[in-house]
Amino acid sequence: MPKGLTLQNKHYIIIWKSAYTEYTLERQIKNMRKYEDLSRIHENALAPRAHYIPYDSREKALAGDKFQSKYYTLLNGEWNFKYFSRDIDCPNTITEWDKVTVPSCWQMTGYEKPYYTNILYPYPVDPPYVPDDNPLGVYRKTVTVDTEMATRENYIVFEGVSSCVELFVNGEYVGFSTVSHSTSEFKINLSAGENEIIAKVYKWCVGSYLEDQDFFRNNGIFRDVYILSRPEGHVHDVELGYNDKTVWCDLPVTLYDADGNETDISSQKILWNAEKPYLYTAIVECAGEYIPFKIGFRTQSINGKGEFLINGVSVKLKGVNHHDTHPQNGYCMTREDMLLDLNKMKELNINCIRTSHYPPQPAFIELCDELGFYVIDEADNEAHGFGGRLGVWPEYDRDECWPCKNPEWLEAHIDRTARLYHRDKNHTSIIMWSHGNEANYGENFAKATEYLRATDTVMGYKRFIHYQNSCHIHDKDKVYLLADPDTVDIVSRMYCTPASMHLYIENTKDTRPFFLCEYSHAMGNGPGDLMDYWDEFYKTPQFIGGCIWEWADHVAPISEGKYGYGGDFGEETHDGNFCCDGLVFADRSFKSGSYEAKYAYQPMATEYDNGLLTVTNRYDFTNLSETEIRYEYTVDGKVISRDKLVLSVAPHESVTVKPDLPSSNPTLGSYLNIYMDKDGYNIAHTHHTISDTTYVPVGNGIPTITCDKEFATISGDGFEHKFNLHYGTLEKIGGLLESRMKLTVWRAPTDNDRRIKRVWAEEKYNLPYNKVYSTEMVGNKITVKAALSTVSKCKIIDYTSTYTFHGNGQIDVTFDGDFDTARTFLPRLGFEFKTRATDFSYFGYGPYESYIDMYHASEMGMYESSAEREYVDYIKPQEHGNHYNTKLLDIGGYKFISKDGFEFSVSAFSAEELTKKAHNFELVPDEYTNVRIDCKVSGIGSNSCGPQLDPKYQAKDAHFHYAFSITK
Ligand code: GAL
Ligand code: MG
Repeated sequence: MPKGLTLQNKHYIIIWKSAYTEYTLERQIKNMRKYEDLSRIHENALAPRAHYIPYDSREKALAGDKFQSKYYTLLNGEWNFKYFSRDIDCPNTITEWDKVTVPSCWQMTGYEKPYYTNILYPYPVDPPYVPDDNPLGVYRKTVTVDTEMATRENYIVFEGVSSCVELFVNGEYVGFSTVSHSTSEFKINLSAGENEIIAKVYKWCVGSYLEDQDFFRNNGIFRDVYILSRPEGHVHDVELGYNDKTVWCDLPVTLYDADGNETDISSQKILWNAEKPYLYTAIVECAGEYIPFKIGFRTQSINGKGEFLINGVSVKLKGVNHHDTHPQNGYCMTREDMLLDLNKMKELNINCIRTSHYPPQPAFIELCDELGFYVIDEADNEAHGFGGRLGVWPEYDRDECWPCKNPEWLEAHIDRTARLYHRDKNHTSIIMWSHGNEANYGENFAKATEYLRATDTVMGYKRFIHYQNSCHIHDKDKVYLLADPDTVDIVSRMYCTPASMHLYIENTKDTRPFFLCEYSHAMGNGPGDLMDYWDEFYKTPQFIGGCIWEWADHVAPISEGKYGYGGDFGEETHDGNFCCDGLVFADRSFKSGSYEAKYAYQPMATEYDNGLLTVTNRYDFTNLSETEIRYEYTVDGKVISRDKLVLSVAPHESVTVKPDLPSSNPTLGSYLNIYMDKDGYNIAHTHHTISDTTYVPVGNGIPTITCDKEFATISGDGFEHKFNLHYGTLEKIGGLLESRMKLTVWRAPTDNDRRIKRVWAEEKYNLPYNKVYSTEMVGNKITVKAALSTVSKCKIIDYTSTYTFHGNGQIDVTFDGDFDTARTFLPRLGFEFKTRATDFSYFGYGPYESYIDMYHASEMGMYESSAEREYVDYIKPQEHGNHYNTKLLDIGGYKFISKDGFEFSVSAFSAEELTKKAHNFELVPDEYTNVRIDCKVSGIGSNSCGPQLDPKYQAKDAHFHYAFSITK
């Protein structure tokens, strides 16, 4: 059994200090301000320690309600506040104060405007200096203390202050501390009666250079502040070790089960995993304090195949990156906000969280232990903007100015990793420590690993070290050719294709687990192509999973009910709506991409072959008997048989059954849907095509056709259509059309089209010119030979379309077009028209918007909808509402029906309107409904940050063909 540490933070002090004294600062520090001084990143701040709340009785410790502890006083609430746009304007005595609620961010309470920038620093890159005008927020609170408390040893704890805090108590300077997203703790002297606490919070400090994360740049005391009032002789740090059998500590520890009953430390334990997060409470006793830690017994390891094992079982990490972000409160998240996020993640079958890109609140980690998540806990360290400081890209120029390569920054690097580790070291949910994000790679990170490896020795299993940018030890083009340094235990990449992942393991023969710390950039309409990753992850043991970028859209309020993004607040540099890249909207509601992720992460897979259904349990620790599995057999959108499947299947195992499907004669298609539910919630569903043959009604009878110079008028019993012979297209279909049917290729670019849209704009795909070479009528059939081109460019597509008119009013349309595949793929291709109708029904992939690479969450079925309901409220308007593989669309009294399917969308907005508006609240609905009947719509992908849309999802066919009939 590893022995607990007796010396508090011994490694921290030894390694950190010795490393620091290896060099001398050559800087002139005469005129340097304290917050610019790399040798003073903390002053009198206590060494980091495990986060805990001490209690004055065992019962209270077990109950775990910190407000009942007499040692705990929360200082959140109303504080006096004074803002100065230049710190030098702060007088010695402030007489007039405003009031603010702590915690909060001063950009959210009206003192500054929100500021969003991704990579580029919001000030010049001149480390360690910050701008001459450094804004300052002074916070003041008085605390009344009784004699008992005053005689105890008192500490003030700040869980998060951006960018640094300088503390004064009763007029005396106490200390100073940087690292926004880590705890700063100070010992303070309090006297009986009233005490004054003043916290000066500077907008920028040298630490800001290591906090260049992609987010709104907020400031203030944004997390809990409290006093711990502790008996003499109390312990500073507590380090617990445990595994799947027992717990150890160098202080007396008593163990309780989840029902609060004392349990023998060495007895059989219920193990913890993310599916069944069983927690015990370990109470550590010292000097009259009872300190509870919730712990779950478990192990983790890596096997010879590079798989990641929890309690010996191979687990795939179905992850997401989580930032602390709230539409009104910025970095401040209440317990309810965090619970909402975590519960919604559970709904989406997420089992892993990377705390991008800093340690979250301690309470967040506690909730992860409790609800069951595998956590990659990340240090507050990102220096991305160094890559842009020379005014030239590429991003990771290799010069020695990067903080990670410069010995002057060593202490700051170790400090950030150490503060992460010590605060969270006793937590069960943490599987990896991450040194940070996008800060290049250098010796300081190698030293941070050395530090961690020497320090994280008490836990009964090895937590892995992660740092994605360690691949920058190599040139950019070698990151898939050469192995990562051995300072990381996990190979991590972002946004690469499955092919590059294979390239890495083939080239390097590296056997470490391969992980995608970021993939499937979920910005706007998306992410598409998620299933391609998961097919590979399941096929290749070494691919242990990944974290979708990112959980929620970041926005800031513009005015009542209106939210904005970068550039809406007058920023000097900004990155537009790149902060709105969540898998869920800012209010945490789901979009189609959320459901697609839920599907990719679901714990059930099925196959259907020749009447036999094979169900695979993709849980790691749960038998299928703990869920309810049922199937539905649908014919033409109606359930004709359903049944429950009583299955007892162990994790990772499969079973084959024969569902009883009555014979049927579908005219649209028949499908077998399998559902996995628990407590009334649908966890997983799969969908199998039994028959997808759609019978298109055969038109009959010969209509009356009369022609003039421009039009052919086709009429018969109760109908009249018009065909425009000049433009080669339908002009009137009974009362359906409010515009000519036009062949177009444009879609309002999605966020994932943000790169390709420049080429599309260059190609002028939004300005089509249709040229008709000939229109020929033979009997009741019109054949059009034509081409679609764009202004100033040559032809996009040469096509032939035919229109056959029947006496019963039916029109059969075919389209055949030749496309030069050397050209850039098309946004989409098909006919568009306007109509007065708003409501419709369809048989196709629904009810969510669906695309060729984002339809798994949907099912083929018959759905009713309306233009209004099809609208998806992306903060930046864009293409939405498509339905892939549609067989039937019934709108305005007409049916569009196709044997092989088409794609369609019905929208209250024109593509032009959606293209030109920057915000959802600017959109003006069209006078009419816009309908698209498409041959092909390009997929969604995740190219907003990820790889280019896979060619198999691009509308780029050498020959485009589709056919549909229009009938009553
Ligand atoms: C990554 C980065 C994230 C975020 C993302 C784009 O490179 O690590 O923080 O910026 O790109 O949304
Ligand atoms: Mg970055």
